[in-house]
Amino acid sequence: MSPYLLIRGGTIVTALGEARADVLVEGEKIVAIGPALQAPVGARIIDASGALVMPGGIDPHTHMELPFMGTVSKDDFHSGTSAAASGGTTMIIDFVIPAPEQSLLAALDVWTARAQKAATDYSFHMAITWWSEQVRAEMAEVVARGVTSFKHFMAYKGAIMVDDGVLVQSFARARDLGALCTVHAEHGDLVAQGQQTIFASGITGPEGHPLSRPPAVEGEASNRALRIAEVIGVPLYVVHTSCSDALDPIARAQSEGQCAFGEALIQHLVVNDGVYRDSNWDAAAHHVMSPPFRPAVHQEALWHGVQAGTISVIGTDHCVFDTAQKRAGRRDFRLIPNGTGGIEDRMSVLWHCGVGTGRITPSEFVALTSTNAARIFNCHPRKGDVAVGSDADLVIWDPARSRTISAKTQFQKNDFNVFEGMTVTGNAAITLSRGKVVWEEGKLRTEPGQGRFVPRAPFADFSRALARRNTLKTPTAVRRAGDQP
Ligand code: URP
Ligand code: ZN
Ligand code: ZN
Repeated sequence: MSPYLLIRGGTIVTALGEARADVLVEGEKIVAIGPALQAPVGARIIDASGALVMPGGIDPHTHMELPFMGTVSKDDFHSGTSAAASGGTTMIIDFVIPAPEQSLLAALDVWTARAQKAATDYSFHMAITWWSEQVRAEMAEVVARGVTSFKHFMAYKGAIMVDDGVLVQSFARARDLGALCTVHAEHGDLVAQGQQTIFASGITGPEGHPLSRPPAVEGEASNRALRIAEVIGVPLYVVHTSCSDALDPIARAQSEGQCAFGEALIQHLVVNDGVYRDSNWDAAAHHVMSPPFRPAVHQEALWHGVQAGTISVIGTDHCVFDTAQKRAGRRDFRLIPNGTGGIEDRMSVLWHCGVGTGRITPSEFVALTSTNAARIFNCHPRKGDVAVGSDADLVIWDPARSRTISAKTQFQKNDFNVFEGMTVTGNAAITLSRGKVVWEEGKLRTEPGQGRFVPRAPFADFSRALARRNTLKTPTAVRRAGDQP
């Protein structure tokens, strides 16, 4: 069988712009890009006329098969990456979350075993859920194994939350290892107190969830984490920014020259807090996630953040629990497993609501769904681009194809969908994962185990630049003799 595949007649869209050109794939890589390329003998030819050829999406925020709040998220690495491929996403970065006191390396082994069935490529972030000399030492080994981003939950008190002391230790260690830090920014003590007060007041249903996590709780934590990162001198990526209270400190940090990145979720951009007022308990509980869905005014602020570049990445935090799992909190909203999904629909919903409305351009769409994540998490240009030498993770995008989203037809393993009933125009026609067609003619062709781990190197340039900036900020009097200015 020929190793060649020629994508003919499409318009290539990258984060930098658009051009009419063919793309030749040999095996797993892109080997040529240009007008009217010759098809090698035996090559499969894909006619992409009228379509766009873009880098496959990268979702850097997923939780496949995550043990959480007394249950396990429903999508595993095979079902989750397959659902992703149907929507044009060809790589995920999932979170290894050690139980407090568990070895990071042991947890990494567990996640590595789970990911063996991935259908597309994947990478990992490592969560720091406790602190000790062992954790400090293991962080170096984690980085050596290609996991160069560390996650910190500032919420989920009594479970995986860490306090400021751990943030300080871990941020400094990550900086020294040339790694990137990420945070779930919510003030966990305020959330715990809010939950207790609201429950005690007699509000036991899902409507209590957003009441216990107001925007100020998120804004405080976003600002605190950014300030700690500023002082320590480490790059910081704030996950699932849901409101202006959390967005504004990111914008300010960036405007002050800090190396800070904002992520928003497609769900937060499109769904508002009205869902918690649904009189149907199940329907409201389906939307329990943290941070919660917000009033429309915050959604507008998030879109502005996307347009201004404060938000660099649109992810999903894909972490699905079905109705039966959500019902664990039937009498107490605090026990409803937190999480929603979106991996299958992220790209089409963003295209429809972003490009379709003129809020963003096709190139910005590519940056937000793929290239920026590849750059920030250090796997570009292998991933996140249409370039000679890059992996042939590609999506042939049909901007005219419409689809109505429904739990009845989705590939995600869940019995509801937060975008239920939405008709989106702009969808993946064909998806390639390292040169192999995994989605075509409405059919999945994924196989468990086709995906490979993508190791990511430390961020040598960032780290050197930040170390230099911090030296410059140190008053002259306390600089050591011999320090370079
Ligand atoms: O509600 C959410 N977001 N669940 C997944 C875990 C997390 O906080 O990212
Ligand atoms: Zn989170
Ligand atoms: Zn998450």
